[in-house]
Amino acid sequence: MRRSIRWNITASYLVLVFLVLVIFTAYVVRALERQYVNTYAYVVATQAKVISLMMREYADDPGQDLARLQVMVQQLRWRKDATISLLDATGRSPGGTVDPAAPEVRAAFAGEEAQSVRTDSQGVKRVYAAAPIVGADGNVVGVVHVSAPRIWVLRQLQRMAPALLTAMLLGLTAAVVVGAALSRRITRPLLALGAAAARISAGDLSTRAPVHGTDELGALGRTFNEMAERLEQTVADISDERNRIEAIVAAMTDAVVATDRHDTIMLLNRAAEDLLRVRRDDALGRSSTRVFGTRRLSAMLHEATAHGRVTAEELPPGTMGDRVVEAHCAPVRSSGGEVTGAVAVLRDVTELRQTERLRRELTANVSHELRTPLTSIKGFAETLLDGAMRDEATARRFLTIIDSETDRLVKLVDDLLDLSLLESKRVTLDPKPVDLGGLIAHTVDKLRPIADHSQLTLVQSAPAGIVVFADADRLEQVFTNLVDNALKYTPPGGRVEVQARPVNGEVEVAVHDSGQGIQPEDLPHVFERFYRADRSRTRGSGGTGLGLAIAKHIVEAHGGRISVSSRLNEGTTFKVTIPLSSGGGAIQ
Ligand SMILES: Nc1ncnc2c1ncn2[C@@H]1O[C@H](COP(=O)(O)OP(=O)(O)OP(=O)(O)O)[C@@H](O)[C@H]1O
Ligand SMILES: [Mg+2]
Repeated sequence: MRRSIRWNITASYLVLVFLVLVIFTAYVVRALERQYVNTYAYVVATQAKVISLMMREYADDPGQDLARLQVMVQQLRWRKDATISLLDATGRSPGGTVDPAAPEVRAAFAGEEAQSVRTDSQGVKRVYAAAPIVGADGNVVGVVHVSAPRIWVLRQLQRMAPALLTAMLLGLTAAVVVGAALSRRITRPLLALGAAAARISAGDLSTRAPVHGTDELGALGRTFNEMAERLEQTVADISDERNRIEAIVAAMTDAVVATDRHDTIMLLNRAAEDLLRVRRDDALGRSSTRVFGTRRLSAMLHEATAHGRVTAEELPPGTMGDRVVEAHCAPVRSSGGEVTGAVAVLRDVTELRQTERLRRELTANVSHELRTPLTSIKGFAETLLDGAMRDEATARRFLTIIDSETDRLVKLVDDLLDLSLLESKRVTLDPKPVDLGGLIAHTVDKLRPIADHSQLTLVQSAPAGIVVFADADRLEQVFTNLVDNALKYTPPGGRVEVQARPVNGEVEVAVHDSGQGIQPEDLPHVFERFYRADRSRTRGSGGTGLGLAIAKHIVEAHGGRISVSSRLNEGTTFKVTIPLSSGGGAIQ
């Protein structure tokens, strides 16, 4: 391109100047030629006239012979190839070399001086002139005829050729120099612009073209620089925006996967790596079908890119490991509305679904638990209203039952409230140093009447001086439930034992009974709310199945743990372990 523009301009200049010079020279040469010929013709005519005047004195001298005069005038010839002829009044010339019918001869006989230019019989162009020789009487007595070849004029012209050629060469050289300089002036900023454009397209957006002058090229350079500035700004804005979006996507807890229209994975965030169990570096740039196999996800992505369809599905466990995943997939469109890819957002809803299931179960359980005492209360109240009221003994018995059912209801509601507070972590513990031995002794003493009533032996052994940092009321609630359970599920004659001992910076409290035990399949569930190992039997004992769930929450809030071991028909042991230095505060 560089050569072509420079050479084009220079060559144009050259051609232009050459043409101008050629046309100019042609015109000048022609004009000069005409001028020379005219001048020459005039010289020839003057020659003729001078000779005619000389001849006048011989005109009337009859002794003069034409042939002699002719010889005489030959001396006046200034060139060898010039001719001078004399014609007598009859038009004869010595040797008959002159055609008396020639126009200049005829004009001369008519008394005029005349000239003409024409080609002679040998094909040579000549200049002719004729002048009359006037006698004393005023008559034309003869004619002087002079001719000379025109080539002589051209010779004169030819002498000018070197000068013309030199001028032409100088002109052409000037054209080359000026053309080259001018083309350089034009191409230099263009080349600089081209180089700047090349650097920009190679990615160096900070490049600017050197701008000079106020002409069109200067304006082009400035416009180019403005364009580059805007481009740089736009690219910076886009990359800022992109970084922001990437940061948002990376920080999202939802898994995000994006593909282009050829199904190639373009984006995969951290959450997606964890959920889909793929590595980002392994997935990026590969086809989603290859990375996700025949999984539903790649089908959804494909549906979005191929048909522009938005899909939302909950993928059950098994589709994506053991997780329940909510997947939304939508096509990505360009500003022209064309589908350029697809993006899928996946949310692990396993916990959410489990919570929902637990909530449904809780509602069902609560309703069920409330229904039993309420049905019983309503039944006895109706019977009383139907007439049983009149018999005082029956009325008292029924009212006692209603009273105890109401107690059960109140306990159930209290426990539920307690559990919900503990679960929502809105309960604040009030930790203080607690003498564990004293607390256990107090609990055991409180429940001793029940043990006596059920003919059970209740013993406790706790070394003095074990002090834990705990909420005393809450801890008493745990031990009360454990001992109460042990008493409830141990047949008369059995033994219930509460022991405390420090182990490795912790204290372990074991509540052991020689009761019925718990079936192995029930063991893992006894800490779940409303779970009762033997429903038919425990219903009568008035349990709601919330005690151990509450106990577990309280123990864990103290930084401890609770466990159970049991042998059917031999007995059960619950162990509560809490750190000796257990702190308190809000339940975490
Ligand atoms: N020492 C034990 N021996 C045998 N089974 C037990 C023992 N402790 C608990 N269980 C079983 O575990 C279930 C859950 O106990 P939990 O204390 O949570 O409920 P509950 O005693 O029935 O009712 P609540 O304590 O709310 O009055 C009981 O219903 C019972 O079946
Ligand atoms: Mg209980």
